[in-house]
Amino acid sequence: MALGFFLGVALFLLSVRSVVKCAAIPEGVLHMECHERYFMIAVDLSFTGEDPRFEAVAGTGVYPISEQYAATCGYSVCLLPLQDHVELRASYFSCHTDNKDDKMFKFKFNLIATHEGEEVTYALSKTCSPTLPWSPREVTCEVNYMEVSVRSEVSCPSGTMKDDWNALRPAHSSTTSDWQVTFQRAEEQLPPMNLSEARKRGYAFDLKDGRLVFRTPYGQPDSLSTTVNGVRVEVVYATLFSRQSWVVLMVDLVAACSMHEGSYDDSGYMLWQTPGVLYPSLDSTQLNIGLNGELVEQPIAEERGYIVEKQNTTVQIKIPYNAEGGYRKSIVSGDLNEYYVFHLYLEQIMVDEENVETRIRLYRTLATPLLPHPIFTENQTLINERAFTVYLGDLPEDVELAAVHLNGHKYTLPFNNTSSQTITKVVHPNNTHGYTLKVPFDDPVVVQKFCRKHSLLQYKLDINYILSILPENEPYYHLESVEALFTDVSPPTFHAVCSESGIRFKLDHRSFDYMWDISVGSDLLTSELAAQHGYILSNNSQSLLLDVPLFTHGYEYKDVTLKGFFGTFEILVRDHDTSEVQSSTVKTCPFTATELILCSTDGRMTVVADLSLAIPSGGVPARTNLVDKYCRPKEADDTKALFSFPLNGCGSTVKIDRQNVTYQNEIFFSKKYLDVNGAVSVNTTERVMVQCTYSLASLHRLFSLYKFESDKVGVGRIIHTAQPTAAQSPTIKPTTALKTTLAAKGPTRVPAAYLPAANPPVRYIRVSRVKSFLSGMRKGKILILKNSHLRGELTLMCLTSLHRRILPN
Ligand SMILES: *[C@@H]1O[C@H](CO)[C@@H](O)[C@H](O)[C@H]1NC(C)=O
Ligand SMILES: *[C@@H]1O[C@H](CO)[C@@H](O)[C@H](O)[C@H]1NC(C)=O
Ligand SMILES: *[C@@H]1O[C@H](CO)[C@@H](O)[C@H](O)[C@H]1NC(C)=O
Ligand SMILES: *[C@@H]1O[C@H](CO)[C@@H](O)[C@H](O)[C@H]1NC(C)=O
Ligand SMILES: *[C@@H]1O[C@H](CO)[C@@H](O)[C@H](O)[C@H]1NC(C)=O
Ligand SMILES: *[C@@H]1O[C@H](CO)[C@@H](O)[C@H](O)[C@H]1NC(C)=O
Ligand SMILES: *[C@@H]1O[C@H](CO)[C@@H](O)[C@H](O)[C@H]1NC(C)=O
Ligand SMILES: *[C@@H]1O[C@H](CO)[C@@H](O)[C@H](O)[C@H]1NC(C)=O
Ligand SMILES: *[C@@H]1O[C@H](CO)[C@@H](O)[C@H](O)[C@H]1NC(C)=O
Repeated sequence: MALGFFLGVALFLLSVRSVVKCAAIPEGVLHMECHERYFMIAVDLSFTGEDPRFEAVAGTGVYPISEQYAATCGYSVCLLPLQDHVELRASYFSCHTDNKDDKMFKFKFNLIATHEGEEVTYALSKTCSPTLPWSPREVTCEVNYMEVSVRSEVSCPSGTMKDDWNALRPAHSSTTSDWQVTFQRAEEQLPPMNLSEARKRGYAFDLKDGRLVFRTPYGQPDSLSTTVNGVRVEVVYATLFSRQSWVVLMVDLVAACSMHEGSYDDSGYMLWQTPGVLYPSLDSTQLNIGLNGELVEQPIAEERGYIVEKQNTTVQIKIPYNAEGGYRKSIVSGDLNEYYVFHLYLEQIMVDEENVETRIRLYRTLATPLLPHPIFTENQTLINERAFTVYLGDLPEDVELAAVHLNGHKYTLPFNNTSSQTITKVVHPNNTHGYTLKVPFDDPVVVQKFCRKHSLLQYKLDINYILSILPENEPYYHLESVEALFTDVSPPTFHAVCSESGIRFKLDHRSFDYMWDISVGSDLLTSELAAQHGYILSNNSQSLLLDVPLFTHGYEYKDVTLKGFFGTFEILVRDHDTSEVQSSTVKTCPFTATELILCSTDGRMTVVADLSLAIPSGGVPARTNLVDKYCRPKEADDTKALFSFPLNGCGSTVKIDRQNVTYQNEIFFSKKYLDVNGAVSVNTTERVMVQCTYSLASLHRLFSLYKFESDKVGVGRIIHTAQPTAAQSPTIKPTTALKTTLAAKGPTRVPAAYLPAANPPVRYIRVSRVKSFLSGMRKGKILILKNSHLRGELTLMCLTSLHRRILPN
């Protein structure tokens, strides 16, 4: 993997620059800094284009800084895509830097950028005056070259005469200079060459003000690659010599640098090694360490988590993976991986026994191998919330969520604020972030499986997170599948309790109960239905409470006695989709009532009536009868009597109007118990009439079958009216009226007239043409049903005049 990002600038001499101008560089794009041993020029790649180049500018000409030229002349050009800039480092001793007394340096250069396919040249310069004094020997281990500079007075081996290098300068600069250099490899002494020949081979020798500079690219044919305590070191031994008549001047110049490439250990440290004594040194070596050209003293570095150790004579430097100044990058290689890049800068200061100081400065780009960066999903679903909650975590900064596929449906971010699914970004202080996704169970995208046989309900959501690695937008996918399983998924059952006035049903909600509907008979239980029938419904998120008062719609009654009766109410649970009845809760409760009238669907009237005011004093309810005096109470006590008889029997009258058919009867104190004066002397204060009203709509079958049958129970009333004294008035005000269904309150008008039941009593009613019958009704005709004398069948007779006055047209 190309992590050094060394910029190879092709020597494209033929390329013709289309535009040459010295346009202004926007603010913040260019950084030029003076470091202690080099110029640092950094330019944003977004400004320069992909292929920025540099040229050194000197009085003698313009020199393109090619890869090879850079290594010979002391320039390093690095493309740093993670920082998004190109960096040029130029040694203060680089070929085309103006040097004033080794104190002030001026570097003039051109930056060649490409804007929309056009090359633009920017002429720039920087002047630096480093404050750090030069050591007698300075070594620079740059990424592409080694450079040694020695102060001229001390460069001769001790004990020999001291030469003034300035005195030798004419010899050096003269065209007839006889300065020679030989390189030494292992024991082999290579043949000498003159300096221009050496320069052709990539070596640079330069005599600056007070210093002799030697520079060599790595990997020269004359260099020596060796291993010191397991650390690879590159060394170039050069000997400069000059024979001037009697005297031979000789300078040994050694350039040696650790070539350790760095290694990553699993404990989270980037390790780099160098032999402790590449140059003559007493034991103590001073170390300064940092990243990106900044140096701090060893103890401060150690405070920042660096570890510096000496193993035998090898110095080991461990950089924590998350050291400030390091760079990390996510990369997809199968899984999501990351690597870290460190631009290590190191200074070693050594002093030999003659107190001569050597300062080594080293620049190395180290990179970890690809390290897995596992991202994870956490199922944070809470069943009670009825929604999947899934957290996707530990995403590095340069990874963004672009979209999610939910069971194959793609949703790009951000989500619509109207959708029921939500996604929230969670940012952590450790530079990671995550996303919380919420999808309700009943969202259409969630797959639902219901197994009725095993009472299992499963919700399933397959999530495919589509992540994007920035800045190149490389996609990465992360899959997760979550499910929620409900066992024991059975239709809801109510808890029912009896009260004096009705039955109370209670249901605790379960999360999956929406799969069923609750109904009373065929009607869905809603608050409207409850209001219509007088049920009391209260429903909150926890439970549903339904109070069904006695005598409201839906009750069935049985075992009616004077002491009491049983009322039954049933709640049905139906499949939400098919409306099929899945279960039911039936509750039967004993009730008591002083009065009661029931009009059954099969044509029976059952009455418990309070007769205390309807019988003469001294009489008992047991001695009462209906219109037909042979119809007598089934049961009676001191005040009440229970009658149960067919609607059409016992002398009932039948009345039909537009909507209803009403059967009426009356409870009398038996005549045979009256005194000789007959009814006149009966001093009762009340008449008790009983009636059952059925809506015609529910009685269609009445006319097609030879049998009474109603869809619905009838509305019964027990009417207590004041005993008329003289002539019967057509309207009699009831004193009390008991009804078996909740009907509109207010004074009830007693029908003015009742058709006397024919004799023998009506038993069966038959209408052969229902439609014409009903249309006749609509026109306001009066129909009287009368039984046939011969066969016990009914004949339908239409009388148009009778009773017209009391019926609306
Ligand atoms: C250096 O050596 C080369 C080949 O040995 C020779 O051609 C060249 O003239 C010499 N240069 C000088 C300045 O002596
Ligand atoms: C130190 O050097 C000794 C002798 O050369 C060697 O046996 C030992 O393994 C070295 N230790 C390390 C940690 O390299
Ligand atoms: C947002 O709305 C568009 C169109 O209205 C729809 O296609 C898309 O699925 C919605 N996204 C989400 C996350 O609901
Ligand atoms: C949803 O978006 C609309 C328009 O984009 C905005 O007006 C509204 O306030 C948003 N609602 C919420 C709850 O964020
Ligand atoms: C970052 O912090 C979050 C929340 O504290 C934690 O879950 C996660 O594991 C951390 N990640 C790393 C790489 O330390
Ligand atoms: C996720 O969480 C829910 C609720 O706690 C649980 O029922 C389910 O088994 C979990 N696991 C998966 C893989 O969905
Ligand atoms: C009662 O409330 C629950 C949840 O609040 C709701 O799902 C249900 O439909 C309601 N039932 C009725 C009958 O209103
Ligand atoms: C029919 O009976 C119902 C219920 O008792 C009543 O509300 C309605 O007014 C009656 N219709 C007529 C026309 O009397
Ligand atoms: C009814 O008549 C009886 C005797 O005939 C009498 O004792 C009683 O007081 C009368 N009651 C009423 C309410 O007039």
